Amino acid sequence: MGTETKPQYSPGLAGIIAGETAICWVDPAAGLMYRGYDIHGMAEKATFEEVAYLLLNGELPNAKQLKEFTQQVASERELPGPITEMLRLLPSDTHPMDMLRTGVSMLSAFDKDLGDNSHDANIRKSIRLIARVSTLITDGWRISQGEQPFPERPELTQAANFFYKFNGKIPEQWQTRMLDTIFNLYADHEFNASTFAARVTASTLAGIYAAITSAVATLKGPLHGGANEESMKMLEEIGTPDRAEPSLMKKLGTKDKIMGFGHRVYKEGDSRVPAMREIARDLGKRTGKENWVPICETLEQVMEREKQLCANVDLYAAPVFWLLGFPPELNTPLFAASRVAGWCAHVIEQHDNNRLIRPRSLYVGPELRPYTGSPK
Ligand SMILES: CC(C)(COP(=O)(O)OP(=O)(O)OC[C@H]1O[C@@H](n2cnc3c(N)ncnc32)[C@H](O)[C@@H]1OP(=O)(O)O)[C@@H](O)C(=O)NCCC(=O)NCCS
Repeated sequence: MGTETKPQYSPGLAGIIAGETAICWVDPAAGLMYRGYDIHGMAEKATFEEVAYLLLNGELPNAKQLKEFTQQVASERELPGPITEMLRLLPSDTHPMDMLRTGVSMLSAFDKDLGDNSHDANIRKSIRLIARVSTLITDGWRISQGEQPFPERPELTQAANFFYKFNGKIPEQWQTRMLDTIFNLYADHEFNASTFAARVTASTLAGIYAAITSAVATLKGPLHGGANEESMKMLEEIGTPDRAEPSLMKKLGTKDKIMGFGHRVYKEGDSRVPAMREIARDLGKRTGKENWVPICETLEQVMEREKQLCANVDLYAAPVFWLLGFPPELNTPLFAASRVAGWCAHVIEQHDNNRLIRPRSLYVGPELRPYTGSPK
């Protein structure tokens, strides 16, 4: 005791480099790239499958590879029967993120590659996970609403299929395009909390299902993925643009955390906000519900003035999902349906070049003291 030199300590690991990655780079000055490609320009044009392929394999697919990958993902969507039965057994008010976490954990028992952490087996399992995370969300939702899941439509892409499995309608092309863009914006973000949790789990050589279960559990929290559900609750409470400033000032007065604002890395703005804001504006025009963007913009101005804090992607994702017809409880699961691609890429990278992630803690407890025997 007392002889060890104290390593540098940063609360919350802020600013600490905890590992190397070739998957994603977050530029604190509001930039984001996947595998060297700027997300801007790519997010609005690529399908989610194209971006998922890039994240998993390191290179963009050619036309043949993309077609094959898209078909592989589509062919893996169906859940094993006992998983659907398990979803039926859960209380109907189970949060969709808890259904998803339980479902991902249970899926492991049905994967023949479970015990194999090789690169090729991990790619096969990633394809299944990307496919089935979406099905767990949509089927779990339908079951919780007392409805039957819709049958699979393997000819649809992930984005189109998500709409179909949610409400039984084949979406318009523009709706699919929008959801592809949203999925692409959410697909990875280097060592965010859920990805880091996945990497810590994977670093013990636990398998990819264990790692993705950790990731889903971590994403649920309102300081991370859960923020997009909380943001929608706040926006609904505000309701109209004229109420945005007084409502926010009241919350700031009581030192509430304002969901959808602030970020550990971005201090000059979240690179994903401009694209998400434009989607919200476009949707507002298409649906005739144009109140959300002005509310968010007022919040942005007041937060900048009062706290010098910028909006993050979850602020605008909330009305976007709402206007696309999804209930707020599905906001974080929609995030997971996309981020699963990034999580899987990180688990593969971790397993391919593994070293146990095991940091130190700074002991702040009592000094060494004598134990004088059990109480008599
Ligand atoms: C994302 C988040 C967890 C980052 O936390 P962090 O890196 O520890 O935050 P910072 O160190 O930059 O915080 C600096 C100050 O701003 C405050 N702050 C940060 N985000 C805030 C928010 N959303 N609302 C109110 N105050 C906030 C902090 O309390 C802190 O104040 P203090 O110095 O008086 O203690 C935090 O901004 C947050 O809780 N945001 C709301 C949840 C959210 O939207 N999460 C999604 C992230 S993509």
